Amino acid sequence: MVVENYKELSQKSAQMFYQSIINKRAINLGLATGGTPVGFYQELVKFLKGHDMTECIRTFNLDEYIGLSKGNPNSFYTFMNDHFYKPLNLSDDQTFIPNGKADDLEDESSQYETLIQSYGGIDLQLLGVGENGHIGFNEPGSHFEQRTHVVNLKPSTVQANARFFNSIKDVPKKAITMGIGTILDAKEIIVIANGEHKAEAIYQLVHGEKSRNWPITALKGHSNVTVILDEAAANKVKLRQAT
Ligand code: PGA
Repeated sequence: MVVENYKELSQKSAQMFYQSIINKRAINLGLATGGTPVGFYQELVKFLKGHDMTECIRTFNLDEYIGLSKGNPNSFYTFMNDHFYKPLNLSDDQTFIPNGKADDLEDESSQYETLIQSYGGIDLQLLGVGENGHIGFNEPGSHFEQRTHVVNLKPSTVQANARFFNSIKDVPKKAITMGIGTILDAKEIIVIANGEHKAEAIYQLVHGEKSRNWPITALKGHSNVTVILDEAAANKVKLRQAT
């Protein structure tokens, strides 16, 4: 789906989430952080604010930096709290995100995986994409079967995320992320991407071969994926003309 601009991309993706939420008595949402979904959260909060249906939502985030406490302004927990949990008054037993300060990170990863499965898996997953094609923090080269695990971030990812920190030195070099296998288990996936710097990754998703060099191409094996793009992110995709 190609939309005109970022506002429309945010509205469209939030509307799809809203429709799924109101159609279900209980729903497990897989959620993402980063620059792209900020507008999505603004719009979804507008749709949901004041509705008692927020009680039926459970959220599971894709990833968290290792070494940042929940209260750190750059943690993904803080991002989620500011953009989604707090505005909707969601409680701790509805909102899950890996603990990047766990003593045993391997154990934290496998417990997070088990937690998702114990709640019945993810119904609807939101994904952004890195310029290098990563989904969650699954960097190029990742195996498509992997479950939640500890990753070393590529220098290009550290660089891309430095804009959120005071200095690039402060950007963690490791994270816990759902694996591509975990992501592919979601019943439905919505990918959002805007800007020309995402165009190559989107091209690979639509026209490229399935390849570990471009983790997003793993989604080619999934039966229910919607990709919402602005015109810049779609500019390498050969669109069919409407007849
Ligand atoms: P961005 O990150 O939304 O900040 O561009 C997306 C991602 O790396 O998955």
